[in-house]
Amino acid sequence: MNEDLDFESLRTGAGIFEVLSKAKALERSGKTILHFEIGQPDFPTPTHVKEAAKQALDENFTGYVPAAGILELRNALQNEIELTRGFKPTLEQILITPGANPGIYFTLRAIVTKSSDEVIFSDPSFPTYGAVLNYLGCTKKAIPLKEENKFRLDPVDIETNITKNTKVVILNSPMNPTGSVMKTDEINKVAELAEEYNFVILTDEIYSKMTYDQEFHSPSIRDEAKERTVILDGFSKAYNMTGWRLGYAIAPENIIDRMSLLISTTVSCVNSFSQKAAVTALTGPQTDLRNNMQAFRKRRDAIVEGLNTIPGFSCLTPQGAFYAFPNIRETGMSSKELADFLLSEAGVACLPGTIFGSNGEGYLRFSYATDVTNINQAVTQIKNALA
Ligand SMILES: Cc1ncc(COP(=O)(O)O)c(C=O)c1O
Repeated sequence: MNEDLDFESLRTGAGIFEVLSKAKALERSGKTILHFEIGQPDFPTPTHVKEAAKQALDENFTGYVPAAGILELRNALQNEIELTRGFKPTLEQILITPGANPGIYFTLRAIVTKSSDEVIFSDPSFPTYGAVLNYLGCTKKAIPLKEENKFRLDPVDIETNITKNTKVVILNSPMNPTGSVMKTDEINKVAELAEEYNFVILTDEIYSKMTYDQEFHSPSIRDEAKERTVILDGFSKAYNMTGWRLGYAIAPENIIDRMSLLISTTVSCVNSFSQKAAVTALTGPQTDLRNNMQAFRKRRDAIVEGLNTIPGFSCLTPQGAFYAFPNIRETGMSSKELADFLLSEAGVACLPGTIFGSNGEGYLRFSYATDVTNINQAVTQIKNALA
C-alpha cells in the first residue's frame, strides 16, 4: 500500500471548491456571477423533513446513536430498498453514513487491501473515486467514456480491463458529470461479469431518484447485495439535504461490518436528529421531489437547447441527475481556459471537464440547479463573451 502518502494526490477532489471560491472572490469584488459549478439542488429541504428534525431536538434526541445508524431509519431503508431495488436487505446489510461521499472511502477502504488490487472506474467520473484510490495506493484502471456511446460505461470495455487482481468496479448511473444513465441490459451485464470474475460492484446511486426519460436500474437485484454489490445512496440530492450529511450503504454483511468499524473509529455515529429527519424524508410525502424533478426537466431542456446555440458548443441531452456536459472542442480553447474565461468575462461559473479526469478535456460541466431565467441569461452572456 501507499507508505509515502502524497497528500497532493487528494487535491483532485477539491477542484470544485476551488472554482467556487474563485467565483465568491469575484462576487466580493462586486461582480455578479451566475452559478453552475456546485452539484447541489437550489431547493430548500422539504418543510416536513425540517419539522421532524426540530421535533427530535425538542424531544432531546441529541445523544450518541449506534454506529450503524438508528433502527427506525434502518427499518425505513429496508422498505425503501424493497420498493426501489426489489429486495429487502437484512438490518445487518444496512449502514448509515455521513453522506455518500465518505461511503465511497469506507467501501473502498474495507475491500481494497493491497497495492496490486485493481479498481475499474470511468474517466470522467466523480473526483472522489480517483482521490480515494490515490490515497489507498491501489491500482487505478480508468476507462475513457465515449461521447458516441452517450457517455455510458460500456461493459465490453470493463471486461477488457478485468484481470485476476480486479477487486472493484465502480458504477455511477445516473452519472456525475455527464448525466448519462446506463441501460438495464448494460448494468445486468456488469453484474454477470462481477459473478464470473468475482469482483465487487460499488454502485453509487446518489442520483437514483433523479431520472428523466430512462428508468433507473440497480445491479443489486442480481445478488440482493448479499455477495458482491455495495449500493451507496443518500439524501443530499433527492431531498435537498446536502448540508445534513446523510447517506447509506447497502452491502454484504461482512463489508458492512468493516465499514461500521471505520465509522465508529472515525465519526462515532451519524448525527442523531438528522437520522430522524431522514425517516420522515423516506416515509413522508414525496411531493417536493416530484415538483423538483419537473423543474429540473424544464431546466435541462432549457440548458441543452441554449448551449447548443452557442458557436463551438454541442451538448447531448442528459438522462438523469442535473448536469449538462457540453463538448466545447470547436471553440479551440482547452476546458480550463474556457472555464476561466467564462468566469472572468461572462460572469458564468462552471467546471472544466478535466476536474473529472483527463478524458474530460474538451468538455465543461454545468450543474443546472438554478432557474430557467438564470440559464437563459448565462447562455446570452456566454455568447456575448465569445463573440
Ligand atoms: C456521484 C456522486 N457521489 C456522491 C456524492 C456525494 O454525496 P453526499 O452529499 O451524499 O456525500 C456526489 C455529490 O456530488 C456525487 O455526485
